[in-house]
Amino acid sequence: MRIGVLTAGGDCPGLNAVIRSVVHRAVDNYGDEVIGFEDGYAGLLDGRYRGLDLNAVSGILARGGTILGSSRLERDRLREACESASDMIHDFGIDALIPIGGEGTLTAARMLSDAGLPVVGVPKTIDNDISSTDRTFGFDTAVGVATEAMDRLKTTAESHQRVMVVEVMGRHAGWIALESGMAAGAHGICLPERPFDPADLVKMVEERFARGKKFAVICVAEGAHPADGTMDYSKGAIDQFGHERFQGIGTALAYELERRLGKEARPVILGHVQRGGVPTAYDRVLATRFGWHAVEAAHRGQFGRMTALRGTDVVMVPLAEAVTELKTVPKDRIVEAESVF
Ligand code: F6P
Repeated sequence: MRIGVLTAGGDCPGLNAVIRSVVHRAVDNYGDEVIGFEDGYAGLLDGRYRGLDLNAVSGILARGGTILGSSRLERDRLREACESASDMIHDFGIDALIPIGGEGTLTAARMLSDAGLPVVGVPKTIDNDISSTDRTFGFDTAVGVATEAMDRLKTTAESHQRVMVVEVMGRHAGWIALESGMAAGAHGICLPERPFDPADLVKMVEERFARGKKFAVICVAEGAHPADGTMDYSKGAIDQFGHERFQGIGTALAYELERRLGKEARPVILGHVQRGGVPTAYDRVLATRFGWHAVEAAHRGQFGRMTALRGTDVVMVPLAEAVTELKTVPKDRIVEAESVF
């Protein structure tokens, strides 16, 4: 079999572990040939690829980023790819394509699958917002980075009697904010799923100071919004990939709290630090399992599907099911988190 692999969308710790696992399983076990398309779907469209043998993937298990490079795909180019799907199979001689990516990449994978490409998807995203899988690799690493940052920010906040507003990633789903906020013992957590009222945060900080705890850490997802009429904050424009451009809720909220409280507040934007660096052991294992199962699925001819974690098992689910809606934080998880701050 000749298998093509690519990584698309925002990078994520664990991508290299999937690539390595695909090559090991395919080459070692089946004697397959594996080629890697460069820079996501762009490499597939432009015919840029290279052979991946065991040497090519040696030493990459713990490396962040992706050795293949990544990019986001513009809608016009996706249309172009779908129209030339059968030519691509012929040109590259591939029997299976394994795109590793988030919601956008998997939506494109589904469209390419519908257009006739033999596709097996592998979900990735630090946001953990892909439905049909309990976890995506990269999430555990991102939560660890954000948690460590908040642990560190607590000591400096306490020394200066400040409020720290820590903005983490999460456009529509607040999983990183929820879990890192819980793990770090943040005193407030703001999620995209539920608009917040700054007055509640002001009350919380004042109560803490009244109890002698003269600092606070608030964890806010980048996609969190204040409830209507509670604070000036406008939604951003939409970029060429259909993503909302954020206006910096962390900074806006820190200044709002400083103004209302009359106490020093500082915004800390963690940004892409959450996506960089080495994956945790959990993410390396999940990524490796996903790669193994993707190759198995290709050999069974189970196309139009993606790997997914259900409980502790890796299963194959239809791509169509995986991209219909985002997995956002459910109400009961918000209620649980509220009880600890
Ligand atoms: O999809 C993952 C994600 O990390 C989002 O949480 C974030 O908003 C986005 O990627 C930022 O990606 P980039 O700046 O690379 O376009």
